[in-house]
Amino acid sequence: MIASLYQQAEQLDAHDPLREVKGQFVLPENMIYLDGNSLGPVTHAAKQRAHEVVEQQWQLDLIKSWNQHNWIGLPQQVGAKIAPLIGAHPDEVIACDSISVNLYKLLHAALAIQESRYVAQSEHLKLARRTRIVTQTGNFPTDGYIAQGLVAHHAQDLTLDYVAEDAIVESLGLDVAVLMLTHVNYKTGYMLDMAYITEQAHALGIVVIWDLAHTTGVIPIDCTLWNVDFAVGCGYKYLNGGPGAPAFVYAAARHHAQLKQPLSGWMGHAQPFAFTQEYVAGKGMLAFLCGTPAVISMSILDAALDVFSAVTMEDVRYKSAQLTRFCLLCIEAQGLLTDLPCISPKDSSVRGSQLAFTHPQAYAICQAMIDKGVVADFRAPDVLRLGFAPLYVSYQDIVRSVEVLSDIIHAQTYLDDAFQIQHAVT
Ligand SMILES: Cc1ncc(COP(=O)(O)O)c(C=O)c1O
Repeated sequence: MIASLYQQAEQLDAHDPLREVKGQFVLPENMIYLDGNSLGPVTHAAKQRAHEVVEQQWQLDLIKSWNQHNWIGLPQQVGAKIAPLIGAHPDEVIACDSISVNLYKLLHAALAIQESRYVAQSEHLKLARRTRIVTQTGNFPTDGYIAQGLVAHHAQDLTLDYVAEDAIVESLGLDVAVLMLTHVNYKTGYMLDMAYITEQAHALGIVVIWDLAHTTGVIPIDCTLWNVDFAVGCGYKYLNGGPGAPAFVYAAARHHAQLKQPLSGWMGHAQPFAFTQEYVAGKGMLAFLCGTPAVISMSILDAALDVFSAVTMEDVRYKSAQLTRFCLLCIEAQGLLTDLPCISPKDSSVRGSQLAFTHPQAYAICQAMIDKGVVADFRAPDVLRLGFAPLYVSYQDIVRSVEVLSDIIHAQTYLDDAFQIQHAVT
């Protein structure tokens, strides 16, 4: 059985239009990396840029580099490279801070838009103030934590409601100010219908914020066509920007004139180097900047993004769907689905680029896989998560990974004490 799967995989790899892209990455030998949805690997270009930034720019040109190497313009430059991946215009995206921090800014910006709409209503037609923020149950915790913090400290009385992913549209009403959703669920890989939900929310006057952490760089979306208001995304997953790489913010141009975000730091000022006392927000996306950009990290992300210049997002998405489909086929063929029920959608059109399986010993299974050179990850309490980054994962990698997983499950090697030790980061 496994031999015929390898044969199929060889065929699929031979016809894969992205097969050469793997050469741009530096991957450890004898390792299959199924964790690019958590931390992407380094590219040759990114490594070289890291050397340049430290050993030439910082070491030799020191502070002159802000101008000479355009350190000051990196947030816009990186934003402009990310823009085509999400169907945005270059001046609608800026790289800065983390998703968590950026969500805080965007929640405020969205609430400020609602407040100005409320104030602008004529007295006799005035609707009540919108007081609800809605998000999905099972959203990545930081999204909810940030909204909880905002609700606790905001001047206006607000509530945060968690609603089931299959009942989002039904839960909306004229009392909702902001809908904040993650497009692809970090655990299950379930992908929401971004265009439809945005349209339905807009019909009720709701401002929508999308978290694109598990979308950007692996699933093509169209913020312009879908009329998206705001979005955030991650630099260290499918964009391969390195650990702690800056995140990004997207804001539709139609909102730029009225952007209000609360972290009014000097880098978001219209003239940071005028050193005036009063804050005056910079134009457009510049207003989302706060403090000094993390130049080294941002330079690495800038170089890592070049891998996307030679691929189409359609090819990337096609392969992403094929990889998850082929992996499920292999897992089924090895008879593993009874021990490892799959909690990701069966239909690849509503599935991101990952598969999640549950098992009471999921953590130990993951450790045993890593020990055999297949890096996956674990999400509490019982999820084994396999991520498929189409730029460097091959179909033969999939068969090998399933072979390893199958051996571990059948021989129960995960029961070994060494695999039970819980590390700080899982
Ligand atoms: C959906 C989602 N949102 C947010 C985050 C965290 O983002 P950050 O660490 O940039 O705040 C993650 C991290 O994995 C995530 O999966």
